[in-house]
Amino acid sequence: MNEARSEAYERCLMKILSVCGGESDQVALMASVVGVLRNEFPDFYWVGFYRLIEGELVIGPYQGTVGCLRIELNRGVCGAAARTGVAQIVPDVHQFPGHIACDPRSQSEIVLPVRNREGVLIAVLDIDSTQRGAFSGLDRKHLEEILGRIFGS
Ligand code: SME
Repeated sequence: MNEARSEAYERCLMKILSVCGGESDQVALMASVVGVLRNEFPDFYWVGFYRLIEGELVIGPYQGTVGCLRIELNRGVCGAAARTGVAQIVPDVHQFPGHIACDPRSQSEIVLPVRNREGVLIAVLDIDSTQRGAFSGLDRKHLEEILGRIFGS
C-alpha cells in the first residue's frame, strides 16, 4: 500500500515538473500542484494553498468546496503550520482543538509550510481527506519533496 502511494506521489512529481518547467508565477505553480494532487488522490476532497500575506493566511488556488478566505495565524491547523513552520498531520480533525471546519466531510488533514528558495515562508498547503487517519510521514515526505522542488529551488 505504501509502495502504491509512493508511486502515486512520484507520478504527481513528474507531472508537476513537466507542467511547471520554466514557470515562475506562484499562482500558476500553486494551481498546477493542486490540480495534479486532486486528480491523483480521489479521497483528497479539498486541496489548496493559503498564502501568507501581511501576517495572515489568505486563500490561494484550491479545488474542493468553498474554503474560508482568511485564517489568522493563531487559528486552526493551517495557522499552526504557518506559526510553527512545521508540517501538521491531524489524523482526526474532531480531536484537534481549534480546527476550522469548512466542510463536515473533513475527517483528517495535513498542512505543510511552503518556503521559497530563500527559505521564507510564503504559504501553506492544506489537504483534507474524507478518511480518518489518511496521512502519515510518507505523505509528509513526498509532499515536502514536491513543494521543495517547485517553490524552493
Ligand atoms: N481545516 C483548516 C481550515 C481550512 S479548510 O479546511 C479548507 C484548519 O483548521 O486550518
